[in-house]
Amino acid sequence: MMKIKETLVCWPTNEFELSHPESIKKTKLIGELQGVYQHDIPQSMLGDIAYVVKLDEPTKEAVEGTLQFGVSYLYPYQVEGEFSCTKGHFHANLDYDEYYFGYAGEGYLLYWDGADEWFAEKVFPGSIHHIDGKYAHRLINTSTTETLKVGACWNVLAGYDYGSIEETGFPVRCFLENGSIVWKEQHINKKR
Ligand SMILES: [Fe+2]
Repeated sequence: MMKIKETLVCWPTNEFELSHPESIKKTKLIGELQGVYQHDIPQSMLGDIAYVVKLDEPTKEAVEGTLQFGVSYLYPYQVEGEFSCTKGHFHANLDYDEYYFGYAGEGYLLYWDGADEWFAEKVFPGSIHHIDGKYAHRLINTSTTETLKVGACWNVLAGYDYGSIEETGFPVRCFLENGSIVWKEQHINKKR
């Protein structure tokens, strides 16, 4: 008899909620993002949710070639005008690429090669982003009302290097000023 397995769905009818019995949920509070923003985070915001990541948990021990899928939900808020963003990371293994898929909301995906190259791509429903493994990457939500929802698919052996970004930050920040999006470069030490 033909076996039909349950399909993993990121429901568009339910605001792209990743729904699966085995999906796991990780929550990051704004208070855990001290040092990410240019300014100190106001006391009143520390306990609020910054972003949630829902992961389709791998069903086997990671081997070469094991992929993982997840959806990030980045809430809309600003810290002294700076748009909400994820911590951002390099991959521990820079040979491993990743794909992001815009589902809902509006924002940017910021790339940095650790040296002199940085740029951003606009994220919106339907956008697709191929992230070369050599770039650190960070999501920025430029909506003041809507959660930015972005799917991602990566090889689990890519790993994470959050430490480099914690040390240096990204070379550019994104602010809301008088209703407009304003990018501000900042001097940082290069990673390489
Ligand atoms: Fe990544």
